[in-house]
Amino acid sequence: MNTKTFLITGGTTGIGLATAQHLRAQGAKVIVTGRNPETLASAKKILSDAAFLRSDSGDLAAAQALGNEVKTFADHLDGAFLNAGVGTFQPIEAATPKNYDDMFNVNVRGLYFQLQSLLPLLGNPSSVVFTSSIAGSIAYAGSSIYSASKAAVISLGKTLAVELAPRGIRVNVLSPGPIDTPIIKKMGLPADQLKGFEETIVAKSLLKRWGTSDEVARAARFLLSEDSSNITGTELIIDGGVRLN
Ligand SMILES: NC(=O)c1ccc[n+]([C@@H]2O[C@H](COP(=O)([O-])OP(=O)(O)OC[C@H]3O[C@@H](n4cnc5c(N)ncnc54)[C@H](OP(=O)(O)O)[C@@H]3O)[C@@H](O)[C@H]2O)c1
Repeated sequence: MNTKTFLITGGTTGIGLATAQHLRAQGAKVIVTGRNPETLASAKKILSDAAFLRSDSGDLAAAQALGNEVKTFADHLDGAFLNAGVGTFQPIEAATPKNYDDMFNVNVRGLYFQLQSLLPLLGNPSSVVFTSSIAGSIAYAGSSIYSASKAAVISLGKTLAVELAPRGIRVNVLSPGPIDTPIIKKMGLPADQLKGFEETIVAKSLLKRWGTSDEVARAARFLLSEDSSNITGTELIIDGGVRLN
């Protein structure tokens, strides 16, 4: 990995940050994006030798400009982990067009046009990994918009694996189950519902615990590396068996 260069969107906290740390530990060069200046600043302290770009995945022009911005740090990429994502839960009666646009613009449109802009930089061979969620294939009350956005990511992963295979670009999808990261507190659930949600997750997990960012990062590293050289168009689920219960 020590001659490789990877881009990670949403690499300032949670799963993206843990993946950046794993890739750095193996000597790879990493370029990290985030939107929030505070989390960008704290990630810079942890990943002092990484390159950072402030780029809002929900902004179409920024997504389309990402490839050119990355070029200021690297003339090619061995892989891209398109991981930035947002999720709020609300019943359909309470959902607003803003909720819908916020989730689809970051989780689906941003990822798609970021990848389009990165294509000239992606080598042959190279590896693209999208972060979806088990919510993309399992129904949870209140998660309709988030789940639909993550289902779209699973679909894009399969289609683009077919479309980009002739260019030597593998495309795979990681679908985490519940992972203990900052996103959980951003879901918009009141404290009592959040506590109930956390307890339900532990009860449903076959391992009786939440997953960790580090566990997802190890899977991301595998899919980004040549260790997964014969794997494309797949969805790797990391959920402690939650979906089975
Ligand atoms: N944790 C889970 O249980 C779980 C389960 C299934 C799937 N996932 C997915 O895993 C991915 C990573 O989430 P996480 O759990 O690691 O949560 P997280 O700690 O909240 O990380 C989200 C990352 O995405 C970035 N991000 C969010 N909106 C952005 C935007 N508009 N532009 C650029 N960056 C943006 C955040 O940066 P800022 O701080 O700048 O916003 C942060 O770096 C997401 O796609 C999420 O949907 C998580």
